[in-house]
Amino acid sequence: MSYNIAIDGPAGAGKSTIAKQLAKKLGYVYVDTGAMYRAIALYLLREKVKPDDTEAVSNTCTGAEVTLIYQNGEQAVLLNGENVNGFIRTEEVGNMASRASAVPAVRERLLQLQRDLASSENVIMDGRDIGTCVLPNADVKIFLTANSAVRAKRRYEELLAKGTPEAFEKIEKDIIERDARDRNREIAPLRQAEDAYLVDTSDMDIPQVVDTILEICRQKG
Ligand code: C5P
Repeated sequence: MSYNIAIDGPAGAGKSTIAKQLAKKLGYVYVDTGAMYRAIALYLLREKVKPDDTEAVSNTCTGAEVTLIYQNGEQAVLLNGENVNGFIRTEEVGNMASRASAVPAVRERLLQLQRDLASSENVIMDGRDIGTCVLPNADVKIFLTANSAVRAKRRYEELLAKGTPEAFEKIEKDIIERDARDRNREIAPLRQAEDAYLVDTSDMDIPQVVDTILEICRQKG
């Protein structure tokens, strides 16, 4: 039986940074489900689909075959066989992912793949609906959050470090809009599972968050 840890939370809460470190410490596979939605979003953008054209999103997403491979311990997302890791971390792709992920046909394309990964490996999977929908029986569920100003600041610094800066105000506005869409959509909305532990990282640094979650895992056994 594989052991599964689910981490959900809003944009910029630090899910991927924390999940990566935990996966390394525990020797688990890290599965970034946001990257899968981003890969489909990239496909839709390349196909010139308008984000609000739900019907076109539904029809076109069937052409996107998303797979994950692991190279030197790092996850790479393949879109129709092409490694798209270098293209999916932009605000444009993030915003398209947030819109497209509300469309049932898009979620259906990814759900089974995510469940298959979790059944064959010990995984730490992060996203929005992992504890509530994808892996309702996960061994440990974490809801990771932080206030929106802190999350926007982290995203701002991340983009600056990558050499692709964006205005702080725009980032914060995008984050707030994206959260509202993720929380209010009909299908698999972002919410804390009843049995998830809430970890608010607003005043915590990365090692503190990692230690907190490791302690929760230890207590759960
Ligand atoms: O986490 P990340 O910012 O990469 O996710 C991009 C978008 O993909 C999110 O805003 C969300 O709308 C969508 N997503 C989702 N369900 C997941 C993971 C991501 O709907 N499990």
